[in-house]
Amino acid sequence: MYFSTVELNTTASQCVNSFLLLLIILKTGSVMLLRASLRQPLCHFIWKRTKTTSSVNYIKALVSEDCLEIEWNDGHKSRQVDKLNVLLWLQFHNSWLRFSCQCEHCKQSHSGQRTIDTLSIPEPLEISDFSLSKNKENLEVKWENERDHQGVLNLQWLRENCYSEVARKLDNKRRKTQPHIGEHSLPEVEYSTIMESREGLWKVYPRPFNRMLSQLSDHGVSLVKNVPHDDEENVLKVGRLIGPIQETIYGKMFDVVSTPNPINIAYSSVGLSYHIDLAYYESPPGLQLLHCLRFDSDIEGGESLFLDAFYVAEEFRKQFPKEFDDLVRIPGTFQKIHFERDYPVKLVYKRPHIVLSPDKEIVAVTWAPPFEGPLSVPEEDVEPYYRAYRLFSKMMEESPLQKSVRLHQGDLVCFNNRRILHGRNSFNLNGGVRHFKGAYVNIDEFRNAFQVTSELVGSGEPCRRSGNHCFL
Ligand SMILES: [Fe+2]
Ligand SMILES: [Zn+2]
Repeated sequence: MYFSTVELNTTASQCVNSFLLLLIILKTGSVMLLRASLRQPLCHFIWKRTKTTSSVNYIKALVSEDCLEIEWNDGHKSRQVDKLNVLLWLQFHNSWLRFSCQCEHCKQSHSGQRTIDTLSIPEPLEISDFSLSKNKENLEVKWENERDHQGVLNLQWLRENCYSEVARKLDNKRRKTQPHIGEHSLPEVEYSTIMESREGLWKVYPRPFNRMLSQLSDHGVSLVKNVPHDDEENVLKVGRLIGPIQETIYGKMFDVVSTPNPINIAYSSVGLSYHIDLAYYESPPGLQLLHCLRFDSDIEGGESLFLDAFYVAEEFRKQFPKEFDDLVRIPGTFQKIHFERDYPVKLVYKRPHIVLSPDKEIVAVTWAPPFEGPLSVPEEDVEPYYRAYRLFSKMMEESPLQKSVRLHQGDLVCFNNRRILHGRNSFNLNGGVRHFKGAYVNIDEFRNAFQVTSELVGSGEPCRRSGNHCFL
């Protein structure tokens, strides 16, 4: 039986942000790190650990006069008994700690990049000693087989990167998308205010731009009002506020206007059912921007349609779990084959309509009926695929969250093409003109703009899921 006691003396003034990180080492493979919120200043902590068997461990920790007991069966599954409801437990495996070492030898301080040859890390990994750095900001670790190496891990960084079940659940929750509730309206920002904030981006006057990014993260859509329609390149200006323009087979900008023999169905006057653009790309465009240059009042129809695919997919999972699984499992074919154009195209991509993370969170939905090619799957999957496909499609058409918006001259709608399906009602020009100018921004650029802004001048919240297949 192994038994150890660590005593730490502290005062409330030493506790940054009113909490204290406490450490406990498990000889068999991991480090426990406890974070105590100091609702009332605690001045004396005592830690005790007892090891009973290799598969069942019990930890006892005394916090002031109160007792916290944690029991777990292995390194991953834990049960927390928290009498004060003020303690979180974190645990880190030896391999995880060693590969994450932040000492000068293992990581380049200015770039933050790992420099150690990971093959040089010896096995087995066993911690021989640990301590807190003098400034109490870092955990210093000595390893059994590496006498000349002292590992360093920043405690705040450890707290932020905890991968316990509790922490991952919390993170999943923060990244969940929020459908925009509100009949036929979209969250709005003013063009003049987001452009004013451009000069001071992230520093001086970021609020309107922040709001636009938050709308895009939370709801997947933002309507920019009063964008001057006398300059066709204003769509690029707004896009570049967020990131570089993503050029595609349709160029840097594209016109959505009725033309004879269009190279895309969108350039006619027929209605378009819900879809994402360029589903046949490995990385379909992230943000799509459509600037309404003209929408004459004589025109009948032509309303833009929007629908949150994540919301519909969640509803689909609840109501039709078997069919939901089929759309996760069986890939559809997405394609664009068109040789008779200036830039000939043959692009074909197979992917499932719905992608889940290992935590079963929806991380991508691909829906693009106008761009579907022949299904090519095992015979026994053909009928289940079409059954699930029809049900999912019907659910979209009946969704209460459909938004039908008639854009006005000067409106610029910016939406996440990987999450918000779009379409339009057919229209009759009646001699009028309906002309949108479009552009795209890659999803990574958007996520970067959001995250940097959030962390430098915002609340630090993470970007919500944006349909880019990322498991976060
Ligand atoms: Fe489209
Ligand atoms: Zn190191």
